[in-house]
Formats: sequence, C-alpha cells, structure tokens
Amino acid sequence: MQDLVQKLQIYKSEIGEYTATDEPSVEAFRIKWLGSKGLVKTVMGAMKDVPVEQKKEAGQLLNDFKLFVEAKFSDLKEAATASSGGAEKARPDLSLPGDTIALGSRHPITLMRNKIISIFQRLGFAVAEGPEIEDDWHNFTALNMPAHHPARDMQDTFYVDAGSNSAVDWLLRTHTSNTQIRVMEKGVLPIRVICPGRVYRNETISARSHCFFHQVEGLYIDENVSFADLKQTLYFFVKEMYGGDVRVRFRPSYFPFTEPSAEMDVSCFICGGKGCNICKKTGWVEILGCGMIHPNVLQNCGIDPEKYTGFAFGMGVERPAMLKYGINDIRLFSENDVRFLRQFTSAT
Ligand code: DAH
Repeated sequence: MQDLVQKLQIYKSEIGEYTATDEPSVEAFRIKWLGSKGLVKTVMGAMKDVPVEQKKEAGQLLNDFKLFVEAKFSDLKEAATASSGGAEKARPDLSLPGDTIALGSRHPITLMRNKIISIFQRLGFAVAEGPEIEDDWHNFTALNMPAHHPARDMQDTFYVDAGSNSAVDWLLRTHTSNTQIRVMEKGVLPIRVICPGRVYRNETISARSHCFFHQVEGLYIDENVSFADLKQTLYFFVKEMYGGDVRVRFRPSYFPFTEPSAEMDVSCFICGGKGCNICKKTGWVEILGCGMIHPNVLQNCGIDPEKYTGFAFGMGVERPAMLKYGINDIRLFSENDVRFLRQFTSAT
C-alpha cells in the first residue's frame, strides 16, 4: 500500500509538470497514461495484490488518480487546440467585415457611349438601334452610294455569304448610317435620334485600328433645319463633353450622303492646342463627320426634300475613350483582360 501511494505521488508530479502545446504530444500523453496499455490501467491492475482490508482506501486513491489524469488530459487538449487556432476557427468572429464581392465594371466603350448619348438626350434626341448584319441598300445604296460608286471603296466591307439564292447582298455594316435609313423609312417626322452601335471594316488590326469598332450617329430632320442648327447642336455637345474652353473648327469634306459635308475638329484637349503627339503637332483632333442630308437620301426614304431638311453626323467612340482614359492600344478594348477592365470599376 505504501508502495502504491509513493508510486502515485511520483506519477502525479510527473504528470503535473507535463506540458504540450501541439496535438501529437497530447496524443502521446493519452497513449502513455490512458491508452489500453497505459499506466493508469497498469496501476489499476495492482488492486488485486492489495490486502482486502486496504482495498477500499486503495480504490479511492486509484480513482482519484484516474480522475486527475483525465482532467490533465482535457486541459492539455484544450490548450493545444487553442494554440493551433482551432478554437478560433470553430467560433466565427462576428466583428469581422464580410467577404467582399468583386464589383463588376462598365466597359470603357460603354462609359463613353453612355456619356455621348446622355448629352444628346438632354437636347431631346431619342436613341435608335439598327442591325449589324445589313443589306446593301441600307448600308450603301440608300445613302446615295449606288453600285460601283467610288465612295464604297472608302470603307472595306465584310460581305456575308447568304447563299447564291439571296436576292440582296448582305454585309456587316461599315457605319451606323444604316440606322438613319431605317429610321427615315418609318416615315414618322420630325426625327431627332442618335444611333449608337458596333461597325465592321476589313482593316488590318493594329494598335490604332481594328476590324470592328463603335460609332454614334446623329440625325435631325424637320422643316427649316439649317447648317446653323447643326453647328449649334455640335457646339453644345463639345462644350458638355470637353469643357467650355475647347475651340471648334469645321473643315469642308465629302460624304455621299450629305451636302454640304464637313469634318469637325476640336482643339487638342491633351495639350490645349499647343501641339503634341496625340494631335500630331497640329493642335487639333478630328472627332466627327457631319453635313446636311443629301436630297437623294431623303427621297430614297420617301421624305419630300422640298418640305424637309435635316442634318446628320457620325462619330467614333474608341478614339475619345482612348484619349479620356489614356489608353494607347485599341486592341485592349476587345481582349477582355480583367486586369484592364478592373481599372474602370469606379470610372465615369
Ligand atoms: N458614316 C461616316 C463614316 O463612317 C460618318 C458620318 C459622316 C456619318 C457624316 C454621318 C455624316 O451621318 O453626316 O465615316
């Protein structure tokens, strides 16, 4: 009995000093003391050698010892899980901010297109859309470009193979001017629309040009519409788009569907007109083509050119977007690289 008491004391002091901060050492403790061949079992086995009159006392001692080992084991286990972060993991920290969900962003072309649209909407222009796969009539002929007209060569066209039975030539529209024709053909006057959309040309892809890009077309038809109205409308647009300090100039130009025709330049908003790489040292940046709608075009759409006049204009979206956002390669717009697109999450 004396032996047993002594043994338990030695065991207890050994156990009392034992520390374990990781799970393997806690497991080692369990195996040594509480395992099926562990020391607790062994000392319990000593009961059979204890004389009957001491059995009660010895049983008490051994039970206390077993409880002592079990309590130590559970302390060790708790300490080890806490230090491995397990307890923290099991209990969520409600004070942490939630997981952020990545925000989508508008494409820079969409941003620029919406900006252009909203300026004209303030002047009462409605938005009209036309098809990207178009027939020859709406893209060329009705716009005063009959077959073999040399102006057709200004725009390299992608033709669509519609089979030999097709009565008309189908193509990918080369400009948004097709939508002018579609709106005019409806015959509801007066007309005041802008037509945003994607256009296609068979051009070599480079940093400056692509085989598809975007345009916004404008069209205004009513009685007594004059070139002065065209200029005022575009002055307003430029002021809203580029600020009040930007200067404007019109240069005579040629488009088959307008007469007279002009191209409009704005003073370079990068260098303020002093001359830089963007404006090729001229101080001016061309932004659109425009003119008074040719009487043949009105007639082609069933509108009486004696009664009605109108103006039209067409501008690209890529170039102003490149200038505004400092993008130097047009191909970035269509590569869908999220590292590029992500930069416009908070752009306006
Ligand atoms: N369609 C022309 C182009 O793609 C742009 C244009 C010029 C449109 C003059 C017009 C206009 O409506 O009046 O180059």
